[in-house]
Amino acid sequence: MRFVLCITGASGVIYGYRTLEVLSAEHEVHLIVSGSGRTVLKEEMGLTLKDLEERFPKAVLHDPADMTSPLASGSRLRAFRAVLVVPCSTSTLGNIASGTNQNLIHRVCEVALKERVPLILLIREMPYSRIHLENMLKVTEAGAVVMPASPGFYHRPRTLEDLVDFVVGKVLDQAGVSHNLFRRWGE
Ligand SMILES: Cc1cc2nc3c(=O)[nH]c(=O)nc-3n(C[C@H](O)[C@H](O)[C@H](O)COP(=O)(O)O)c2cc1C
Repeated sequence: MRFVLCITGASGVIYGYRTLEVLSAEHEVHLIVSGSGRTVLKEEMGLTLKDLEERFPKAVLHDPADMTSPLASGSRLRAFRAVLVVPCSTSTLGNIASGTNQNLIHRVCEVALKERVPLILLIREMPYSRIHLENMLKVTEAGAVVMPASPGFYHRPRTLEDLVDFVVGKVLDQAGVSHNLFRRWGE
């Protein structure tokens, strides 16, 4: 299957990294990292875009400033199983909600909504303002799936990786990807 994975400048870039790691092992992943996404990648994981390219050579990297990318076209995006924004900043959420395309990530999300390609947004902010909540409702009503980056604890996590895998597993569930990232209730 083919996926677009967008990493934006919210905290929790490790969720995006782990999603890339799991997805690219078996699927075609087109990756877009926003400028702020790169900043947080460096801040939280000490990694650069070049490091990602080296670690995940099969991932197809797209420039967030390139509005001529094939991903900006509805007929091309329809070939993808889902668009994932992991993590999704409230700024990118606001752009999606208002339909303003400041970069390729916003455009891909807009196209996903209009073409009915599943769009999954893993929002990370705390607390939420009324504007955040209204924007989440707006994009939900337009067809997106809004997910908070909040792990559960009923699977008895022991490590940071367990917590990350729980959230990433929930995102992959929404994207229709089978995985074994956490023990399900009753298993
Ligand atoms: C270290 C760091 C952590 C941040 N964490 C968050 C966050 O958790 N959620 C959020 O919405 N924005 C966060 N921001 C702010 C965004 O990076 C900022 O709003 C940026 O303009 C988002 O741009 P983008 O959506 O194009 O990536 C953070 C910024 C930095 C530098």
